[in-house]
Amino acid sequence: MQPSDCHNFHDFRRMARRKLPGPIFNYIDGAADDEVTYRRNTASFERCDLVPNVLRGVENVDLSVTVMGQKLALPVYCSPTALQRLFHHQGERAVAAASDKYATMFGVSSLGTVSLEEVRKLSSAPQIYQFYFHKDRSLNRAMMERAKTAGVEVMMLTVDSITGGNRERDKRTGFSIPFKLTLAGMLQFAMKPAWGLNYLTHEPFRLPQLDEHVDMGGGTMSISKYFSEMLDPSMNWDDVAQMVEQWSGQFCLKGIMSVADAKRAADIGCTGIVLSNHGGRQLDGSRTAFDQLAEIVDAVGDRIDVLMDGGVQRGTHVLKALSLGAKAVGLGRYYLFPLAAAGQAGVERALELMRIEIERDMRLMGCSSVQQLSRANLRFR
Ligand code: LAC
Repeated sequence: MQPSDCHNFHDFRRMARRKLPGPIFNYIDGAADDEVTYRRNTASFERCDLVPNVLRGVENVDLSVTVMGQKLALPVYCSPTALQRLFHHQGERAVAAASDKYATMFGVSSLGTVSLEEVRKLSSAPQIYQFYFHKDRSLNRAMMERAKTAGVEVMMLTVDSITGGNRERDKRTGFSIPFKLTLAGMLQFAMKPAWGLNYLTHEPFRLPQLDEHVDMGGGTMSISKYFSEMLDPSMNWDDVAQMVEQWSGQFCLKGIMSVADAKRAADIGCTGIVLSNHGGRQLDGSRTAFDQLAEIVDAVGDRIDVLMDGGVQRGTHVLKALSLGAKAVGLGRYYLFPLAAAGQAGVERALELMRIEIERDMRLMGCSSVQQLSRANLRFR
């Protein structure tokens, strides 16, 4: 099966499932508790209908948007996600190169497996650095300086992961970094020897955003220990206000859901917020970003760029979010399964499919630019 045989998210998910050892596939595919929020993320788009206009002259369609000062050729971007070289040996390099080709923004995670400096050189597309807040304030300052020096355009602080979500699939397989597989998990790795061979014949696994500070690669610090011992659960609005001031550039909070928090983010000088429930991976039962979007846009949309992510699998999902007032829409699993399935070629194919879908859907909606999408295009059931 080739990337060109994949026509949508589901095809790539199937291809990834065939290639990846079960524990890794389930780490990507899984979510918290009963995975209710994970399922609702996509389902929430289906409760909303598009109402097209016709005969509007849609020969040329402009898909570009400007978000947090960055011009993107597409209204979607690759959200920062962790551990990409576990999914495919090209990892973050593939995502950066594909984002460059499609001239859209991409994120590099604190838990990324290629250094933010190397990735910066691979792509001229706007780069996000996803940040966690550490107990050690000097470490926070050093990491922000490092990102600034590297030329990162957007600082994105994740605020919905003050503690780890309950990922029961990972508990069953023993998925953690370093691996502490259960017997069942080990058997699942043994069933995918091609993945194992590929993993062993490429450069050793590292977490270069952190390994200056934390000896994770050497196996002395697991990711769960990193979360429980290094990150600061006392993080509050004053801490973030200081970070915003220190960064003095585009600063975005990822994981905002309430109107009160959205207002506060604007008050302390953030330039963007991402409505997100972390792909359903943190608080199960939390509302979907799409369901919460209108309320937030109404409250702060004139002061701050409102972005959203969660469950986006189709161009029509993107159009619905943009019609409600999102400035851009983040993709996660949508590009991770293609990465796992086929590396850079997979991510490029996924972005191409999304570009084609959005362009076709815009024409069918009678819109020649993203600015023409509005709530008049939507009806909720
Ligand atoms: C996750 C974290 C690492 O969702 O973002 O797995």
